[in-house]
Amino acid sequence: QSKTLFPFNIVLIGFMGTGKTTIGKLLSKGLDMEFVDLDTLIEERLGMKISQYFEKEGEAAFRKVEKAIVEEVSSRANIVISCGGGVVLDQENIANLKKNGKLLLLQAKVETVLERLKEDDTRPLLKAQDLVVKIKDLLDARGSLYIKSADYVFDTDGKKPQDIVDEVIKRL
Ligand code: S3P
Repeated sequence: QSKTLFPFNIVLIGFMGTGKTTIGKLLSKGLDMEFVDLDTLIEERLGMKISQYFEKEGEAAFRKVEKAIVEEVSSRANIVISCGGGVVLDQENIANLKKNGKLLLLQAKVETVLERLKEDDTRPLLKAQDLVVKIKDLLDARGSLYIKSADYVFDTDGKKPQDIVDEVIKRL
């Protein structure tokens, strides 16, 4: 039944810490669609954590792997995809994801991202002394890319994951 409701992929984009993985899992359960987390898939393929790969090979090499996996997953249908926060840096990724999917942007304020990620050491791009400055810089650089890539925008500040899931199902 849900498959007739959503005959396309639901693709979650947004900054680190906006809840893409949490909400993606809940959505996939609620809609009985398969869930694919791109970061997890990349780690499976690489046989190591993204942070290790960044350290070993650098960001450019990571983006190449990410791009190949985006292309591969984009050709599938009826799945919920949660993307890494940097997927918007290459608009060919976005074009690929849009072929079979609707792109949902999850947004959060800097303070919310900080609160969600301050204890987290899995994000190589946030290994900074001053986390707030780092988050602000990245958001400044990427903000317009997120907006222009999105088909729908959802604010997540102060909301429970399930509230956002309900909102997504209502709006799509
Ligand atoms: C990145 C976000 C991460 C991961 C990698 C790079 C980014 O994914 O892909 O560390 O450039 O924003 P999450 O958004 O799931 O943390």
